[in-house]
Amino acid sequence: MIDLRNIRKSYFVGDRELPILKGIDLSITKGEFVVLMGVSGSGKTTLMNIIGLLDKQTEGDYTFAGTSVDGLDDERLADMRNTYIGFVFQQFFLLPYLDAIENVLIPIVYSKKGIKHPREKAKMLLGKFGLEQRIHNKPSQLSGGEQQRVAIARALVNDPEIILADEPTGALDSKTGGEIMDLFQMLNEEGKTIIVVTHDPKLATFGKRLVRIEDGAISEDITT
Ligand SMILES: Nc1ncnc2c1ncn2[C@@H]1O[C@H](COP(=O)(O)OP(=O)(O)OP(=O)(O)O)[C@@H](O)[C@H]1O
Ligand SMILES: [Mg+2]
Repeated sequence: MIDLRNIRKSYFVGDRELPILKGIDLSITKGEFVVLMGVSGSGKTTLMNIIGLLDKQTEGDYTFAGTSVDGLDDERLADMRNTYIGFVFQQFFLLPYLDAIENVLIPIVYSKKGIKHPREKAKMLLGKFGLEQRIHNKPSQLSGGEQQRVAIARALVNDPEIILADEPTGALDSKTGGEIMDLFQMLNEEGKTIIVVTHDPKLATFGKRLVRIEDGAISEDITT
């Protein structure tokens, strides 16, 4: 599903090259639940943005869903993202003027999958996450944990195979964060491939595989 070979990423500040990722080799297959851990600045978001086809590596090869994505243009990359990936972020990124169900429906606008009965689907997902009484609430009328569950429903409405979550519990207290990780576990048991970034060691055991990144390189890759 995901195959990264000797991925390097540098930023250029003026004419100085800043190496951020220093030769990442990583394969992730369908059905895995990977927790990607590392301290702040180690390169987790940089790596996730490459995995999620939001950014390109400076060097190395990336094969995603059987396709070498290195030479693809932005439109093709956007198509692949919409087809395969659901994104979850620390800051939820819900639209404040839309209610929960309308937020969940946003990806349908860009979808080419022809999802049937999207409104029922959005309602079903919100219900599954315990939000049946909240579907007409605006984000400001929801707790942080509820907002993140709406964001996860939004990530799922287009039936992606993969969920990429960058610090999804970072804005939540530890109990609520644990509930979000439980929810990812449930989705993984239903067959979704999940990659979650965190710098919280307490969350390391939620996945089935722990990949640790230190200073732009993988320092540990174990089955948990
Ligand atoms: N556009 C950029 N230009 C220059 N340097 C950048 C840029 N984006 C990120 N960096 C640097 O790359 C390094 C890795 O950043 P990254 O966001 O991947 O870290 P992270 O592991 O996600 O950290 P955190 O846990 O704080 O989110 C940092 O030193 C950061 O300052
Ligand atoms: Mg980050």
